[in-house]
Amino acid sequence: MFSAFDSVGVIGTGAMGRGIAQIAAQAGSRVKLLDNQPGMADQARSQVSAQWAKLAEKGKLSGADASALADRISVASSLADLSDCQLVVEAIVENLDIKRALMKDLVAITAPTTVLATNTSSLSITAIAAGSGRESHIVGFHFFNPVPLMKVVEVIPGLKTQPAVVEQLVSYAKCMGHTPVIAQDTPGFIVNHAGRAYGTEALRILGERVADIATIDNILRDQVGFKLGPLELMDLTGLDVSHPVMESVYHQYYQEPRYRPSVITAQRLAGNVLGRKTGSGFYNYVDGAAEKVADAKPPAITELPPVWVSPKAARRQELYQLLKGFNARIETAAAPSAQALILVAPLGFDVTTVAAVERLDPTRTVGIDMLLDDASTRRRVLATNPATRADMRDAAWALFAQDGKPVSIIRDSGGFVTQRVLAHIVNIAADMCQQGICSPSDLDTAVRLGLGYPHGPLALGDLLGPGNVLEVLFNLQTVYGDPRYRPSPWLRRRGALGLSLAQQEI
Ligand code: NAI
Repeated sequence: MFSAFDSVGVIGTGAMGRGIAQIAAQAGSRVKLLDNQPGMADQARSQVSAQWAKLAEKGKLSGADASALADRISVASSLADLSDCQLVVEAIVENLDIKRALMKDLVAITAPTTVLATNTSSLSITAIAAGSGRESHIVGFHFFNPVPLMKVVEVIPGLKTQPAVVEQLVSYAKCMGHTPVIAQDTPGFIVNHAGRAYGTEALRILGERVADIATIDNILRDQVGFKLGPLELMDLTGLDVSHPVMESVYHQYYQEPRYRPSVITAQRLAGNVLGRKTGSGFYNYVDGAAEKVADAKPPAITELPPVWVSPKAARRQELYQLLKGFNARIETAAAPSAQALILVAPLGFDVTTVAAVERLDPTRTVGIDMLLDDASTRRRVLATNPATRADMRDAAWALFAQDGKPVSIIRDSGGFVTQRVLAHIVNIAADMCQQGICSPSDLDTAVRLGLGYPHGPLALGDLLGPGNVLEVLFNLQTVYGDPRYRPSPWLRRRGALGLSLAQQEI
C-alpha cells in the first residue's frame, strides 16, 4: 500500500511552493527546495520552519517535532540535486513554454517512475506534458492559497497520465491532510470553472442596474449565507486576478455564453480600480475597511392597504402565513379590490411580465422573492416594475419590515438577484457533471472547500428543488432570450423527473 513519497522536490518557492513544501514535510517526506531567484529557497525554508516554531510556541506541536520537521527541508543548489526525488512538484511562473521546458529537463534527470506534478491553475496538463517523453507520469496537483489552510487539492490527469499516478497523488494528498478531488484536464478544472457563475451573473445584474453594489452583496450574503458578496469578493481578490480568469475560461470554452465576462470589470481593470489593493474598487477602503452605507430605514406608514396575493405566487401558503403574522388585511377574492397592494412571487419571470400576463394593475403590483424559505433567510427582497406607485412600494416595504428583518428593494428583472445567481451556479455545476469533468460529490466538495460556499452547488440545487431551478432558468431564457440561461441536460432531465442532482446514471 502507498504511504507517502519519501523524497519530494518543490520547484518555485513563492507563495504556493512554500505551502506545498510545508504540508509535504508534515506528510513525512524529505523535501528539497529549488528556486531560480538567489536566496529565495533559503528564505522559504526559514519561513516554513518559523511556522512550525510558532505552532510549537502555541503548544500545538512539541519542540522536538518542530525541529524534526524543519530538518526534513533542505535547499537544492541545482536541478540535478532533485534527481533522486520520487515526486517533484513545480510551482514556478504560470507560463506554458517555461513549464514545458522544465518538465523536459526533469524527465532527463529523474527516474522513469518519478511523478512530475504541476500546480498550474490555468494551463492544460496535457499541453505541459506534451513532448516531454514521460507523459504517463505528468499530472496536475492544483492547490489553493494559502495551501496549509485550504484543505482541498485537485488531481488532474492529462490525456496520457497513467491511472496509477493519479491514485498515488490521491493517497499522498490524504497523507498531507488534504481532501483530493479528481478533475478532467479542462479549463479552470473544478473550482475555477464552477466559480465562474457567482461573479459574472452579479456583474450582469449590476450592469442592468437592477440593484446597486451594496444591495447585491447584502442580498447574497443575507439570503443565501455567502461569506462575502460577489462584488466584495472581487475587491478582495483584485480585478487584476479575477478579470483575466473570467476572460481565460470564457475564451478557452470558445465563447460559451454562460461564462461571458463583463465590460464593467474590463473598464475598472483598465483604470486600475482593482479593489482593496488599490484602495478603491466596488467599495472605497479607508484604513483597510470598506466604506458602506447602512440600510435605509423603512417608511413609517399609519394605515397599510389590504393585500391580495396572486394565486400563482411561489410558496403562496408560506406568504399567507407571513402576512397573517404581520396582521395584514388579506383579500381572498378572485381579483384584488381597487385599494389592494398586489403581491406576486415569480420564479424567473419579472414582475412586469407577471402583471401583464395575469392582467394585474401594474401600478399596485410589487414582487417578493420566495425562492427560499423565508425562515431560512436574513433579508427579504421586493421588486418594483416600471409602473409601480411609490406609495405601494412603501406600503410593501413597511409591511415586510415589521419584524425588523432588513428589506431590499430592487428593480424587477428576470428572476430576483438570488434566483438569477443561484440558478446560474447550479446550472454551470450541472453542466460540469454532464461533461464528466468530475463526479457530483467531488464537485460539491471542491466548491465548499475551495470557494467556501455554504453548500455545494448540486446540494444547493437539491435544496431549492431541481424543478424550481429549472423553472427559473426556462423563464429567464424567455425574458432575456439569452442562451446563457439554457438549462444543462443534467439539470433538465433530473429536474423534469424530480431526481436529485447528485444522482448518477447507470
Ligand atoms: P510566486 O510568484 O509567488 O512564486 C513563483 C516562484 O517561482 C518565485 O519564487 C520565482 O522565483 C520562481 N520561479 C519562476 N520561474 C522559475 C524557474 N524557471 N525555475 C525555478 N524557479 C522559478 O507564484 P505563486 O503564486 O506561488 O504561483 C506559482 C504557481 O502556482 C503558478 O503556476 C500559479 O499559477 C500557481 N497557483 C497559484 C495560486 C495563487 O493563488 N497564488 C493558486 C493556485 C496555483
